[in-house]
Amino acid sequence: MTESSVRSKIRLVLLGAPASGKGTQGQTLAAELGIPKISTGDMMRAARDAGTELGKLFDGIMSQGKLVPDDLVIRLVDERLAEPDAQRGFILDGFPRTVPQAEALDQLLASRGASINAAVNIATPRELLLERATLRRTDVRTGQIYHLKYNPPPDSAQLVHRDDDREETVRKRLDAYDAMTAALVPYYEGKGLLRHVDGVGSPVEVGRRIRSALSELTDGVSPNLRGGANEG
Ligand code: AP5
Repeated sequence: MTESSVRSKIRLVLLGAPASGKGTQGQTLAAELGIPKISTGDMMRAARDAGTELGKLFDGIMSQGKLVPDDLVIRLVDERLAEPDAQRGFILDGFPRTVPQAEALDQLLASRGASINAAVNIATPRELLLERATLRRTDVRTGQIYHLKYNPPPDSAQLVHRDDDREETVRKRLDAYDAMTAALVPYYEGKGLLRHVDGVGSPVEVGRRIRSALSELTDGVSPNLRGGANEG
């Protein structure tokens, strides 16, 4: 692979508080661009469901709404980014979440001759986040994210309600976001890589804003990036 082809991939960090819509938007965008969406939360829940020792450790921390230690998360991401599909580019959802994670990400990408080329912050008021999280349901078979009010699931869906989506735990996650993750906004702003998009509106509207921000940041490097639509 030439250096210029490495540079032309979309390597996007999706920032935003819990339940701001990172997973929803990342899922659609990843399918559109033909690149993986890498969610550390999903990876941790998969480890928990597999019953591994690490999974049990993750579960104990996640159910309290706290952050998993940086070194464990960085190791997970390092291994995931080494997989073949991530060489086409990727969308990071829920990682990095602290400045040390962001620095470690920069270092591990640099060691592979790559770098993050876009960061988009989905800015959503706190009062909406609580409702989005507590009424979220996910189809265990497909991973599709639904919302009981805004995006109701079909009758055939096999739904799960995340343990950490109980109101009290969501509040703790929002506090952890304010304390640790909000610092990533100046981190990526300082690198000239960040755009803020308004997270209020339908998923289609928010998706349009994200695509437009991404086109600006990556100067249209991906031929698959549709300027406006978010459907399908
Ligand atoms: P993680 O799984 O990453 O959760 P999160 O960041 O808190 O984000 P969410 O998955 O809650 O929300 P989202 O922004 O993806 O929103 P979604 O699209 O689903 O992390 C969980 C835990 O794992 C952490 O608390 C921590 O313990 C641990 N962890 C994970 N990564 C870590 C890391 N890097 N370091 C340390 N610890 C880590 O949307 C939410 C709902 O709203 C859905 O129902 C959806 O249908 C609905 N919705 C979406 N968009 C809209 C819209 N525009 N209008 C109306 N409804 C909408």
